[in-house]
Amino acid sequence: MPLVPMRQILDEAAKGGYGVGAFNVNNMEQIQAIMQAANDTNSPVIIQASRGALKYSKMIYLKKLMEAAVEEFPHIPVSMHLDHGNSLDTCKQAIELGFTSVMMDGSLAEDGKSPNSYEQNVAVTAQVVEYAHPLGVTVEGELGCLGGIEDGHGAGLSAEEVDEHLTDPNQTEDFVAKTGLDALAVAIGTSHGAYKSGRKDPKTGEMLPPKLAMERIHEIHKRMPNCHMVMHGSSSVPKELVDIINQYGGNMPDTFGIPVEQIQDGIKHGVRKVNVDTDSRLAITGAIRKVFVESPEKFDPRDYLKPARDAAYEVYLARMKAFGQAGHAGDYEPMTLEDAKSLYK
Ligand code: G3H
Ligand code: 13P
Ligand code: ZN
Repeated sequence: MPLVPMRQILDEAAKGGYGVGAFNVNNMEQIQAIMQAANDTNSPVIIQASRGALKYSKMIYLKKLMEAAVEEFPHIPVSMHLDHGNSLDTCKQAIELGFTSVMMDGSLAEDGKSPNSYEQNVAVTAQVVEYAHPLGVTVEGELGCLGGIEDGHGAGLSAEEVDEHLTDPNQTEDFVAKTGLDALAVAIGTSHGAYKSGRKDPKTGEMLPPKLAMERIHEIHKRMPNCHMVMHGSSSVPKELVDIINQYGGNMPDTFGIPVEQIQDGIKHGVRKVNVDTDSRLAITGAIRKVFVESPEKFDPRDYLKPARDAAYEVYLARMKAFGQAGHAGDYEPMTLEDAKSLYK
């Protein structure tokens, strides 16, 4: 099966009332773990690469790994998606490489840091749609800014500033109509990485869980029941994974993630794509640290990369079941990009 346009995966998820995990990858082990989990749960899946991932893998390696993935598991619908594209040029580059879906994150300027105006966001997202749709490629846009900053990406908003940059449900219909996008990433108080809170209890000084504006998702879904929403920053940052890291010499205090139940509530209200990167990073790092501490004599990379791949597999497997995509791989005939062109005529 060739890579399928993400639009089809999301349309089918909407019909079936489930969400689909979109997992970030940088290397072979992550791709293998995702595909194995998708195979074992019979799940359609979205694999995504950030600009950093493309740079790290020198692009061509990621492309070839994805070709291997679809060849090994021809019965699994897979989309290859660009995460947080920062310009039309970046999106064009990903499409040329064979990506079947791109995100134009016009909520931020090309530097990936400064918030854009609404008008700038509309203009650049519409440009990408105009380029991508005639090729059958899916486009995700973002309205509102995520909090936090991770590896140089993100506006680095404080907990208070995040509130001012949440998605405004009053703008969503206009944004979707003016851009023509396929999927809308919403800012509801999540952020990338393992430190999603940024809030301290003023009395005890203890960290509090992140405050999410789930009601905005409910409201957008009420106004636009056919709009596919995307939740970024959706790692749950499980304590047991962080504990392994800390037990074996790591130093990650005060982590917080998004409880799976809140994501499931989003899925009930139109969230179709759920972005998860950090949880896989945590699982991999913990597994590697464990081998290094318990078996300091080992130096064959397979001795720690295999446990790392296995640990990531467990995360993907659990998320595929929790988001509801499990069991749906065989529900539909996969579309090609050629087929998808007709969706946009
Ligand atoms: O956008 C955030 C994802 O977790 C990707 O992170 O830019 O470090 O690859 P990255
Ligand atoms: P996490 O950092 O919560 O995994 O979010 C990943 C993400 O949103 C990628 O776009
Ligand atoms: Zn993101």
